[in-house]
Amino acid sequence: MRSSNALPDLSGRRVVVPGGTGAVGEGVVRGYLSAGADVVVPTRTQERAEEFRRVLGDAATDRLHLVVHDYTTFAGAERLADEMERRLGGVDDVVAPIGGWWVGKRVWEIDEADWQSAFVGLATAHVAVVRAFLPRLNPRGAYTVIVGASASTPVPGSGLVSMEQAALLMMQQVLQAELAGQQRVFALVLGPVRTRLVGSDDPDWVTADQVGAVAVAASAAAAVGGREIRMRSRAEADEALALFQAAQPVGTGAVVAVSTMEPKHGRRDDLVAVLAELAQQIRAEPGCMHYSVHRTRGEDTGPLLVVQMFASIEAFTEHSSSVADQIPRISALLATPPVPPTLFEPVPLGGDAAKESLSA
Ligand SMILES: NC(=O)c1ccc[n+]([C@@H]2O[C@H](COP(=O)([O-])OP(=O)(O)OC[C@H]3O[C@@H](n4cnc5c(N)ncnc54)[C@H](OP(=O)(O)O)[C@@H]3O)[C@@H](O)[C@H]2O)c1
Repeated sequence: MRSSNALPDLSGRRVVVPGGTGAVGEGVVRGYLSAGADVVVPTRTQERAEEFRRVLGDAATDRLHLVVHDYTTFAGAERLADEMERRLGGVDDVVAPIGGWWVGKRVWEIDEADWQSAFVGLATAHVAVVRAFLPRLNPRGAYTVIVGASASTPVPGSGLVSMEQAALLMMQQVLQAELAGQQRVFALVLGPVRTRLVGSDDPDWVTADQVGAVAVAASAAAAVGGREIRMRSRAEADEALALFQAAQPVGTGAVVAVSTMEPKHGRRDDLVAVLAELAQQIRAEPGCMHYSVHRTRGEDTGPLLVVQMFASIEAFTEHSSSVADQIPRISALLATPPVPPTLFEPVPLGGDAAKESLSA
């Protein structure tokens, strides 16, 4: 299954991203801003706020609410949640990429200061945010905690990180069990991430923007219950995106293109072969959400029905120009000259979003 990179529309959603100023958080903040949401990024210092605004550049629109606020204590997180309710009227989603890497000592070598900062401090910050925000969260929204694969793979010399991340992963499971389906809590489990601070040419590394795209997709796909989502490689990130996109309500602006093709006598198999070859290219287009070919049930001859879905009319136009040079090949196999596909748009009916969407 192919996944589309098009972000769902989250206009009007109010999202808080504690830890959003960090390397991974940047991708998360960019993702929600691009999806149209209002994004609150609390940060503990003014310098960090100013630096982050510079990092975002033009992406720092008026929907970005950078607030200097210590959210890492129970009382601090509670005050932030109160303030958000007062200023924005509520909160719909939380993504928490709080904390970073720690390295240097084996477990028996740590001192109490290490323990307090790399374990207690970070774990306290996460629990503080959960207890302040989860009870206020929109039931259609999502709470997403971000951890590393070191939560389940020991890294010698970084044991404190592994232990703290393992605790967060279990926190997600406990919350999900306690909520019994009333709200959705996700844990995104990351491998190494390409960020503004750490580059890599390895195509298997997930980027901070891809982490953001998956978090946004999780928020939008209300039909997908909370769970652990592994994103330790590019392939796992694509799989995660495809899971959420398959369950998203049909987007406003999506375009469904339907064509009927009447093959020349005896050439239907050749036509199917060409369409199968094109399927790979078309499904890889960033705006393509669906491409399938159908025949009349039980018949070896007769017309083919081609159904495609694109994230927007712009994506459809781009698709049309990218396949234009294939038209002569297809025409040579058709009994009648090809006609442009008829364009439809989804009519949302409500109910089971996964069954309404063509995007799988
Ligand atoms: N970067 C990677 O390659 C990678 C890979 C796998 C998993 N992860 C996970 O992704 C999450 C974020 O990592 P990151 O690399 O983005 O980290 P980062 O660049 O260090 O950013 C973390 C942010 O967390 C906030 N924070 C709050 N309390 C903190 C504390 N006690 N110590 C340090 N930071 C604190 C900071 O924001 P303020 O100072 O503005 O408050 C900071 O900007 C972590 O859970 C990490 O394990 C990252």
